[in-house]
Amino acid sequence: MPGRVGRRALLTGGALALAGAGATAAVAAGRPGESTVDFGAQVVPFHGVHQAGIETPAQAHAAFVALDLRPGTDRAALGRVLRLLTDDAARLARGAPPLADGQPELAAVPARLTVTFGFGPDLFDAAGLAARRPESLRPLPAFGIDRLEPRWCGGDLLLQICADDPVTVSHAQRMLVKDARAFATVRWVQRGFRRGRGVQDDGVTQRNVLGQVDGTANPPPGTGVFAGAVWTDEGPGLAAGRRHDARAAPHPGRARDVGRGRHRRCRPRAGGTTLVLRRIRAELETWDAADTAGKEFAVGRRLADGAPLTGRREHDPLDLRARDAIGFPVIPEFAHAARAHVLDDRQRIFRRPYNYDEPPAADGTAEAGLIFASFQRDIARQFLPIQRNLAEADLLDEWITPIGSAVFAVPPGCAEGGWIGQTLLG
Ligand code: HEM
Repeated sequence: MPGRVGRRALLTGGALALAGAGATAAVAAGRPGESTVDFGAQVVPFHGVHQAGIETPAQAHAAFVALDLRPGTDRAALGRVLRLLTDDAARLARGAPPLADGQPELAAVPARLTVTFGFGPDLFDAAGLAARRPESLRPLPAFGIDRLEPRWCGGDLLLQICADDPVTVSHAQRMLVKDARAFATVRWVQRGFRRGRGVQDDGVTQRNVLGQVDGTANPPPGTGVFAGAVWTDEGPGLAAGRRHDARAAPHPGRARDVGRGRHRRCRPRAGGTTLVLRRIRAELETWDAADTAGKEFAVGRRLADGAPLTGRREHDPLDLRARDAIGFPVIPEFAHAARAHVLDDRQRIFRRPYNYDEPPAADGTAEAGLIFASFQRDIARQFLPIQRNLAEADLLDEWITPIGSAVFAVPPGCAEGGWIGQTLLG
């Protein structure tokens, strides 16, 4: 039906191809009048109280880049590089090229680009800021399940780069790394992905490479529960006054900046958070061999729709006391969701994981898993108790192996003209 050609076809030049029968079929299969071109133009404001890329509904692609400061990068030098990288990130987020961009054309599709900065434990020492290092910002203790590979561990400065388009992520990564080069070397890069934007409705919980619905029991973005669990020095009371539903509005307006206020000066990390990044390999060979009942038992939720074994819909609460006809718990005591479940909202963590899938081994064994990103106010009070529970006994442990680990303090956002890290270093 050529008369109902969508804007997408016109904008991409696809209309030219309409003469071919195949192209006609392709247009007919889409919903005329709808456009995915808009996704490329969408912008997540860089400036605000909090850094973007945390409460932001997860974009389809991510690069986590860990940099190590070169010896001699002191507080002043670190301030210079952060000013520069902040400026780059703010420009890229609005679809503008950074200064001296060799390929400015690539910056024109922001696709909800966010760049989120994190500071590793050693950065605080290098910059003479040891007194300002969050108490629990230290490498995680070793867990029995860990098989850590140094090539995926640690890092002084993290750039979490997310967008709905992989070319946008690649370009942003190259620009930022180029500008950081005089001050820092690349320690590792981890590339991750989720479902492509537009292939499902926004707000559908993602599936990980194991096929599980993953993210259901997260504190909901835009709520006081989220704020109380994630943002430093900002309890539910404070957050309640400016609630918004980040899931309904993919680009929640960044709240006014308080960076120059008295409150912020007293508490340089207020409005920040912490990030634990674990690279967790999925043992897909044996997972594939397990039956559906075994896989569902391991988590306590159904594979088809993510509903708890005690419920009917995805968001039904877990009933950890329910028993079957012969008195056994319906959700096993050692199921992943049961072991990870916490009752106090302030102890919850916010998971924003990405899948990874590297080239398989020569024998075809998959090299895939999760880049498990967990945001919380306090690593020791929130992440560690959950991780200890899981490392001690979790049916899912048979199929997952942590191979990388890093922790970062995520400083608050900044106002226009400011820079990320200013409240800590400035
Ligand atoms: C590859 C590794 C992992 C996989 C595949 C995985 C998968 C899942 C799945 C399918 C769920 C149920 C759906 C949901 O609520 O999202 C879940 C829940 C959860 N997971 Fe994981 N997970 C992994 C690692 C971890 C780690 C390392 C932690 C924290 C240390 C963690 C913490 C949680 C929490 C807090 C919940 C929600 C529990 C609740 O209150 O119901 N997970 N995970």
